[in-house]
Amino acid sequence: MIVLKTSRELGVMRKAGIISQKALRLAGEAVEPGVSAWEVDKLVRQYIESEGAAPSFLGYDGYPASACISVNQVVIHGIPKKSVIFKKGDIVSIDVGAYYEGFHGDNAWTFPCGEISDEAKALLDAAERSLFLGIEQARPGNRVGDIGRAVQEYVEARSYSVVREFTGHGVGAEMHEDPSVPNYGTPGRGARLTAGMVIAIEPMINQGRREIEVKPDGWTVVTRDGSLSAHFEHTVAITPGGPVILTLPD
Ligand code: MF3
Ligand code: CO
Repeated sequence: MIVLKTSRELGVMRKAGIISQKALRLAGEAVEPGVSAWEVDKLVRQYIESEGAAPSFLGYDGYPASACISVNQVVIHGIPKKSVIFKKGDIVSIDVGAYYEGFHGDNAWTFPCGEISDEAKALLDAAERSLFLGIEQARPGNRVGDIGRAVQEYVEARSYSVVREFTGHGVGAEMHEDPSVPNYGTPGRGARLTAGMVIAIEPMINQGRREIEVKPDGWTVVTRDGSLSAHFEHTVAITPGGPVILTLPD
């Protein structure tokens, strides 16, 4: 069931979105050689709680941390640990959600650790660009397949691949609501987008093949071929005037 949001609720969701965005920015600024994922997770939790919000992921299905921190071939859901220490040349995907006054914000970004290879830079650029091409399609009258198609077309033309097993999703009082928002699809197919819907669009883009594997910890998702993977996400409201990114300032 898709839950539409009132304009009052969208105002609250903007606040949750901004807290999520600032937490993500803080986390990204902390990524440097020698810093651990655990330290970054701690910063995220402290910041979110200092704003009177709660980290959305902590305790979700038993998830043990506030952020997901996924390095290099880790696609998503990397668990921040003291033993995960960033090195120059790593790409570090950080996913952060905040729950504030009854609503969630959800966003992710892949940050370079120091100087990275040209290949890694090209992957990050393509994945980021695909997110914004998807967002551009998030308008009343379009369908979920229009978003997926825009993402898929752009990245596959550059010979990257789209992860299929995980998708974007509705966001609201629950972190994961309907509809599911795949990063691949057929134009004109799938759920119709209407004003008042809020969705997280979150392409997960692999440098190599699209197949993934879940590690025995039940969380960590890696590329099967060991290639790099990037993840970019915004929470977006669908309004009569077009897409509004709730995880960015107005
Ligand atoms: N932010 C992720 C998503 O967009 C999920 C968070 S991971 C979990 O679906 F730990 F909270 F499950
Ligand atoms: Co999400």
